[in-house]
Amino acid sequence: MNAHVDARGWPQPNSRPSPFALDALEGLTQTPKRLSPKYFYDATGSDLFEQITRLPEYYPTRTELGILRERGREITAFIPKGAALVEFGAGATTKMRLLLEHSAFAAYVPVDISGEFLHSQAARLRADYPTLAVYPVAADFTRAFALPAEVASMPKVGFFPGSTLGNFEPDDAAQFLRKAAAILGQGARLILGVDLEKDERILHDAYNDAAGVTAKFNLNLLARMNRELGTDFDASAFDHRAIYNRTEHRIEMHLRSRKAQKISLCGRTIMFASGESIHTENSYKYSIPRLHKLARSAGWTLSQSWTDAQAMFSVHALVADRPPPLAAD
Ligand code: AVI
Repeated sequence: MNAHVDARGWPQPNSRPSPFALDALEGLTQTPKRLSPKYFYDATGSDLFEQITRLPEYYPTRTELGILRERGREITAFIPKGAALVEFGAGATTKMRLLLEHSAFAAYVPVDISGEFLHSQAARLRADYPTLAVYPVAADFTRAFALPAEVASMPKVGFFPGSTLGNFEPDDAAQFLRKAAAILGQGARLILGVDLEKDERILHDAYNDAAGVTAKFNLNLLARMNRELGTDFDASAFDHRAIYNRTEHRIEMHLRSRKAQKISLCGRTIMFASGESIHTENSYKYSIPRLHKLARSAGWTLSQSWTDAQAMFSVHALVADRPPPLAAD
């Protein structure tokens, strides 16, 4: 039971709803209902995502790793000597370690909201690379944050792999790119991994895997709300749905209730009609010209792009045109 609500989902006196509760309330009272994909990643969700990255149908992770492995020398030629590599949303350090094989960057700044995970990864990196300075920053990388003073005089290169940019709405993706340029400062560079548009069957299978791991990942959101927000979803009556929206160039994930149900959240009742869905994620797929346009609109120029032989995934080197002023959050 969540500390902020009693057994009926009523707020306890003197308790303030968490940001998760407020976001859930806002999203579930909209039509159509929606929730932010950032809430997928509790401990269970992060573990399920790790499993997704190893699924035979989920090509993005292994394809991006292949590009970083095979084209690592060319990609890292883009990193100035003595630079600080700033990774937005650092998870496992596998991808930055591939860059480190070819490049002598002086410092690594992983930025992630999960401070505990960040510090354990940093300790392992320091043990493996004693000459690399590691300065973890526990922050929400989609908001403004300050870089450590120790890297102030170093050239800065951002690193944003995994096509996480694809989970942002296009306007938010442009906003993020603008903020990244401002945070990295004068002469900023960026190495960006982006999933590409492709045959719809490949996309469909990547988000509807035969083992049902993506379904579990999606459905975990309901279990998480029941656990943390005291909601009473009958999760067993929801189905995972992932479809490709060709007009919007995106995979959409939904949770669809097979029956009418009534949910309590923060003292409010939320009704679901039979067949009604919660829209839980968009995963935008770019063409290189559309990515080029997005980057230009956000003050970056694509300097070089690499893809795998089947053009499934892409890695890009971008140069900031000029540092824009840091916009207030
Ligand atoms: C993290 N992100 C890039 C993944 C994606 O492919 O959009 C999240 C994911 N959702 C379902 N499977 C993987």
